[in-house]
Amino acid sequence: MIAIESVSKRFKRVEALKGVSLDIEEGEFFGLLGPNGAGKSTLMNILSGYLEADEGSASLDGQPLNAANEKTRLKMGLVPQSISLYEDLSALQNLEIFGKLYQLPSKSLKERMEFWLNKVQLWERRNDKVKTFSGGMKRRVNLVSSLLHEPKILMCDEPTVGVDPQSRNAIFEFLEEQNAVGLTIIYTTHYMEEVERLCSRIAIIDNGEIIGLGTREELMAKLPFEDEVEFAKEIARPSLLEAFRALGEVEPIKEKYQLRVKPNIPMSRIHQIIEDENLSHRQFQFKQPTLEAVFLSMTGRSLRE
Ligand SMILES: Nc1ncnc2c1ncn2[C@@H]1O[C@H](COP(=O)(O)OP(=O)(O)OP(=O)(O)O)[C@@H](O)[C@H]1O
Ligand SMILES: [Mg+2]
Repeated sequence: MIAIESVSKRFKRVEALKGVSLDIEEGEFFGLLGPNGAGKSTLMNILSGYLEADEGSASLDGQPLNAANEKTRLKMGLVPQSISLYEDLSALQNLEIFGKLYQLPSKSLKERMEFWLNKVQLWERRNDKVKTFSGGMKRRVNLVSSLLHEPKILMCDEPTVGVDPQSRNAIFEFLEEQNAVGLTIIYTTHYMEEVERLCSRIAIIDNGEIIGLGTREELMAKLPFEDEVEFAKEIARPSLLEAFRALGEVEPIKEKYQLRVKPNIPMSRIHQIIEDENLSHRQFQFKQPTLEAVFLSMTGRSLRE
């Protein structure tokens, strides 16, 4: 559906994108995960025609995606990272502005505004000024403003920043529902929990390059270890550390130690060591690694530094 081929973009000295290639299929809930400055917004802005790539191209169903190709561009909806609403206008007045930008006939604009504001539980508040809204409510208006023209693909650029947990959940459920009825979604974030919950396929982007691509399981399979076992420094006597080092890597992390267990080591071997050392299993925390561990093992850095 969307084909991105060797897209590069430079801002003076910063190479924001370095030859990014990606294919996104119809109906996907696609996640773009990366730390601050990775190039996520730059890519979203190129796909929606707000920015022009220096090199490479992007297309939708074979039609070029750029500012000149209005017809194809209108099949994309971008929910920008920074909220773009007039604080002194009501929710409805804000949506009217977007509707006019898209040149929607007033009857269908009215219907769609009612439909979408109901969907995000804001119809009752339609005549209130946006400045009276919480961060989460503003995010929801920002979100539906990009759906009025009924795009086939919705790109959400960090749509939960500054949102309380309840509103965050409302946004997730709304997006999941829209995806279930056929909307293709590209979801940008630096929260790995969000892509783990929402996305069927994920691209990890860092320093303008895609460094990992696949389902969560495919990305996890690239990890050189399977389980993580954490324990306090007080119990980390030399004999324990030595026994654990035979099973994987042992490293100090903040006030703890972490053992990253090599693949195919039965957990019973860990339990045996704990017993041999006369320690209690409750002194050890067993964890399944997350995408954060994938990012860490690929870059040596954490997603949020
Ligand atoms: N208009 C611009 N002018 C100059 N540099 C820019 C511009 N837009 C982005 N950059 C730079 O390009 C790089 C990528 O920025 P981008 O906004 O795409 O990252 P991001 O992944 O969206 O980050 P964040 O999570 O902080 O939103 C950064 O180094 C940024 O400073
Ligand atoms: Mg950004």
